[in-house]
Amino acid sequence: VITVEVPVPGASYDAYVGEGAVEALEKVLVDLAPQRVAIVSHRGLPFTVRTALPSKRFDIGQGETSKTLRTVGSLCSRWARWGLSRGDVVVAVGGGVVTDTAGFAAASYHRGIPIVQVPTTLLGMVDAAIGGKTGVNLPEGKNLVGAFWQPSAVICDLDALRTLPDREVASGYGELAKYHFLTGAELGLDLESQVAAAIKIKADVIADDVREDPSNTRGRAILNYGHTLAHALETGGRFDLRHGEAVAIGLVFAAELARSMERISDQRVQDHRRVLQQYSLHDRLPAGSDPQLLIDLMRRDKKALHGLTFVLDGPTGVEMVRDVPEIDVRKALEAIR
Ligand SMILES: NC(=O)c1ccc[n+]([C@@H]2O[C@H](COP(=O)([O-])OP(=O)(O)OC[C@H]3O[C@@H](n4cnc5c(N)ncnc54)[C@H](O)[C@@H]3O)[C@@H](O)[C@H]2O)c1
Ligand SMILES: [Zn+2]
Repeated sequence: VITVEVPVPGASYDAYVGEGAVEALEKVLVDLAPQRVAIVSHRGLPFTVRTALPSKRFDIGQGETSKTLRTVGSLCSRWARWGLSRGDVVVAVGGGVVTDTAGFAAASYHRGIPIVQVPTTLLGMVDAAIGGKTGVNLPEGKNLVGAFWQPSAVICDLDALRTLPDREVASGYGELAKYHFLTGAELGLDLESQVAAAIKIKADVIADDVREDPSNTRGRAILNYGHTLAHALETGGRFDLRHGEAVAIGLVFAAELARSMERISDQRVQDHRRVLQQYSLHDRLPAGSDPQLLIDLMRRDKKALHGLTFVLDGPTGVEMVRDVPEIDVRKALEAIR
């Protein structure tokens, strides 16, 4: 098991990565010294946790439609009826839906009680459970209500991934692929090193930009590498793509765009394709994509205060670039058709 420090100023914590990492949970809980432990998960999840401390399980519904204020309200009410107090601990066990929802409930309950995140999807391990962003959806849009709330520890037990459906694994790989390009650090060959390296990269980025300062073009913004096209493909709606699968396509697109703007070499674009191949990810637009629609959607991206805005690779690394010429965007979309 690899321990990675997430050095958030004033709220540092450790992430434990490896097969059997869940064995670290008991020590983490004993150090936090709660009277009781509220375990949040959903019915039917094959991975569970145990503790010798007094505990109770609080299930929420499965899937994105459960990531709501209503679920947060219900969790907080059930915790209150059980007598959960500020000195107690929440343990969230599940994918990003569970860790985001339980995280926001923990941030709000008694104005904040400690939470230990136990992500059980690859995407949760390398992204959702790390960084302290928590929140839920509104009918008006995804992740519109939330809070920054750092966990006390994150436990990534790779044994949990054995039951993960192939498409969810692919989705996690898409997000993992992104980390190959953010700092130039090598991720290693086995999954344990790759997940630990990804967490380390995200940890260092967020430690420098804890609350996402919009003027910081090399802070949390770089974690959105590959995401502008990915979001357009996801909101464009008609495609059967998991989030990380869309990010994978977005990564090659961003590489082609950076090449078209003469920021990176042909070789560097090939590096992007090679990493996607390593994870068996698709690197082309889905059949039937409409470039004009994608461009219109990308103009409406929340980062796009100044024309078309992308996170792009370049001679000094990955950064946010504003006012990208539409002609280059068109060329890059053409190159990945
Ligand atoms: N807070 C952040 O910084 C952040 C970052 C990225 C994504 N997210 C959020 O994360 C969510 C997506 O997370 P996700 O991809 O983990 O989706 P998810 O939580 O919906 O999980 C995907 C599916 O896998 C199942 N599952 C989970 N673990 C399993 C296991 N070990 N074995 C078998 N099945 C398992 C779940 O029940 C679900 O059906 C989105 O809501 C997104 O907004 C948040
Ligand atoms: Zn993502």
